[in-house]
Amino acid sequence: MEKLFDQRRYLIPFRSTLLPQIFTDTLVIGGGVAGLRAAIAASEHGEVIVLSKGELKNTNTAWAQGGISSVMDPGDGFLSHAEDTRTAGAGLCEAAVVDLVVERGPGLLEELISWGMRLDMDAAGRPLLGREGGHSASRIVHAGGDATGKELQRCLNEKTRTLANVRVFEKCFALDLITPSNGPGAPVVGAITHHPKFGLQMIWAKSTILASGGAGVLYRETTNPPLATADGLAMAYRAGATLCDMAFVQFHPTTLYLAGASRALITEAVRGHGGFLLDDAGRRFMQQVHPLAELAPRDVVSGAIVRQIAKQGGQHVWLDCRHLADFGARFPEIQALLKRFDLNPEVDLIPVHPAAHYMVGGVRTDGSARTDVPGLFAAGEVSATGLHGANRLASNSLLEGLVFGKIAGHAAAESRTANGRNG
Ligand code: SIN
Repeated sequence: MEKLFDQRRYLIPFRSTLLPQIFTDTLVIGGGVAGLRAAIAASEHGEVIVLSKGELKNTNTAWAQGGISSVMDPGDGFLSHAEDTRTAGAGLCEAAVVDLVVERGPGLLEELISWGMRLDMDAAGRPLLGREGGHSASRIVHAGGDATGKELQRCLNEKTRTLANVRVFEKCFALDLITPSNGPGAPVVGAITHHPKFGLQMIWAKSTILASGGAGVLYRETTNPPLATADGLAMAYRAGATLCDMAFVQFHPTTLYLAGASRALITEAVRGHGGFLLDDAGRRFMQQVHPLAELAPRDVVSGAIVRQIAKQGGQHVWLDCRHLADFGARFPEIQALLKRFDLNPEVDLIPVHPAAHYMVGGVRTDGSARTDVPGLFAAGEVSATGLHGANRLASNSLLEGLVFGKIAGHAAAESRTANGRNG
């Protein structure tokens, strides 16, 4: 069996015959929104193993504040959401993918509600809708004010736990995808993993779904958790998959900028709720830059902040929320964060600076979440589906993870049937 592996293409040398061997139908690498949604779908067709590099509660998804964009208001429409997505994407989005994702949003949110996700609701039981940059309507559903990711992750974790044929391996690091033959077209048949207790293991799968997130930690200034280290992108590349649009890295305009403190996201929903950006002289500067001012697409706002900082000197601009009387109720987690630094948003300006936030490029996939390597599918931030073009529209990422996670889970199983590898 050793001869099957060209050791030069793997990250570390290994003796496959000496390692424990585990078998499953679908292997999902990543336990965030895309990974768990994929696992739930794949579990309808067979056994599933989900690998999570850390604990499930600490995924990048769990850190998301703002929300999930979706057309939920009768006054809003799919055309408008699609148009906003394409505009933010600077004309480089794939129109069919955009339509698919925005149209599936409401159904997937209803499904989450039916699984127990506690969205913030109005008195009539309809989801409260926030506004974020680049959106021409209020269409961001949220939970716990600014704790949407935490609640989404909780809901998916609990749903996954009810599924007897899904096993979740936490703190299990995927080192490499297995391709037991050389050359172009070699299929992926699982992954080599490392677990602090069990050491190296080989997990063989009839299909593998990569949902391992992004690359934020490659940057000094980032909103991402420490686990966002690009290893899924690197693994896919070593296995022969095509990566595309890797130059498109999105910078979030507003992270807390305090000397000595790690960067913490201040959700775009704060500006959607009426927060202003001020220069050192206390003047709003975004009105001169874009008709949507503070709610212009992210790349526009981040670029304007960097230019403003260069013009005025110093290291940050200011976010002004002093006029937002309900700040603490709407953004309880940010309020608590600011308090730790003795900042009170009702009286203090908040120092902010852009930081690396989201890898727009990634492993190229088609509309069925297939990569160009047989047996390998990808969903979520690690993938490049064509939805985001050159710049992702705010809160479209959790939505994309839900839509393409589900597609990937089903497509992975269907491809096994089509290839006769299913039985
Ligand atoms: C935010 O809450 O500002 C981030 C939302 C996103 O990245 O889509």
